[in-house]
Amino acid sequence: MTLTDPEPDVAPAVARETTHHGPDHLVLSEHPVFRRFWYAVCFTDDVADGPVERTVLGQELVLWRPEPGSAVSAAWNRCAHRDAPLSMGWVKDCHLVCPYHGWEWDAEGRTQRIPQFPTAPHPTKSGLTMVRAQERYGMVWVCLADDAEGGPVADIPPVPQYAAPGWRVVPERQWDFACTAMHLVENNVDPGHVAFVHRATFGNPDNAELTEADVERTAYGFLTRNEVPVESRPGEVGATVRSTVAQVHLPFFMHLHITYPDGLQHVMLKAITPVDDEHCVILQTVLRTDSEAERPAADILAFDDVVEQEDATLLDRLPAGFPLAPRLNAHAKADRASLLLRRLYAELVTGRWTPGVGA
Ligand code: FES
Ligand SMILES: [Fe+2]
Repeated sequence: MTLTDPEPDVAPAVARETTHHGPDHLVLSEHPVFRRFWYAVCFTDDVADGPVERTVLGQELVLWRPEPGSAVSAAWNRCAHRDAPLSMGWVKDCHLVCPYHGWEWDAEGRTQRIPQFPTAPHPTKSGLTMVRAQERYGMVWVCLADDAEGGPVADIPPVPQYAAPGWRVVPERQWDFACTAMHLVENNVDPGHVAFVHRATFGNPDNAELTEADVERTAYGFLTRNEVPVESRPGEVGATVRSTVAQVHLPFFMHLHITYPDGLQHVMLKAITPVDDEHCVILQTVLRTDSEAERPAADILAFDDVVEQEDATLLDRLPAGFPLAPRLNAHAKADRASLLLRRLYAELVTGRWTPGVGA
């Protein structure tokens, strides 16, 4: 379904009175539904020697490989004995070892050894609280919701270009933001900011005019098509146009497919993960149709490193709450995708949107 008119376009006074069915601001921790999605927490290579620590939706996690090359295990980062952070521990003989009193667990979080009295029965609550984990696209993904909560409500989104013929993979890195995950998604579907926030890299404030974007609801969230004039692309200077099809897989995964006039295609896989109510991270991987010889991966990463920092400098200064109610802001013609995003979040937290059901 094509969204024909998400909200009044250029009349803030009217927009501020638009009816709205949801909370005024979205606070992630108030809505358990967010626990039911998969989030990328690190790159697969980050879990090598010893356990690592990550936080998702305020929940501290420990991630480890019971042996080199085995699947990643994930659990709450808190020992059932005396609450030590298990990420301070180590892996020995395929067991995760607690750094405080040396209790040991296997890949499924079952207690295997209590060294002070090795032959005594294990206390019933000594096992780890495990979390679903899997690896895809060179990243480790977790879903916090356990069976009692219904488990995942959607699969990890498909990325057909990943490892496909004619495409190369350029793994990038994680960037940290002191803003909500919603603010970061909104920023990535906001063509109007490029000319200004990125004026030192690929934007030009004197060339800010846009053509109207398409915005379309889908079964996974929405997609938007836009064309943005830019002054450069990774490793190259020279004005061109980015034609982008941006998919937003609710709540926070993005697939940006950019085509340049010379035919080069550049996909940005943006896995945005909420750390807590006020912080998020993005794990980014790029897929390209050219070769390393034509454009070195180092150039692409260097470009995106600056671009992400430019966004962070602005986004980190936004107020903590993410506004859902249209009356809280003014909206213009360039904000159609942003307005639909806010509407979908409102539908998600009020049970009016279900993944896979669509428009
Ligand atoms: S706190 Fe972990 S073994 Fe005691
Ligand atoms: Fe940006």
